[in-house]
Amino acid sequence: MKPIFIALLFAGSVACTTQLYVPGETNVNKVEQASLAELQQGHDLFQNNCGKCHKLPKPDSRLNPEWEKVIAKMGPKAKLDKDQSKLIYKYIVNR
Ligand code: HEC
Repeated sequence: MKPIFIALLFAGSVACTTQLYVPGETNVNKVEQASLAELQQGHDLFQNNCGKCHKLPKPDSRLNPEWEKVIAKMGPKAKLDKDQSKLIYKYIVNR
């Protein structure tokens, strides 16, 4: 009984969080020039800063030009500088 209960609990907690793609070689320079290290930084910055006031948005929920505007507005809200915002943008559009 116990292991089943724990498994259900675990499944429940996973369902609540946005599943973010993990950048790999195929994402490097896909849309924007970005190394794997930059995309990984963008992933972490996005995950750690963009889900504080609302649910973490899905990278494929908007078109790239919209993301550019959203991040220009949300970067300062999250107290991120231009370089950090750019890394988040690159992570999102190289999905
Ligand atoms: C300090 C709180 C706060 C943080 C941090 C924050 N947001 Fe937001 N976000 C808001 C509020 C408030 C709104 C709704 C009002 C608005 O659009 O300004 C919003 C709206 C949005 C929307 C919907 C807007 C639209 O026009 O479709 C997106 C997408 C978004 N945020 C993405 C992000 C991203 C990406 C980050 C990280 C860089 C981020 N947010 C960080 C407060 C925050």
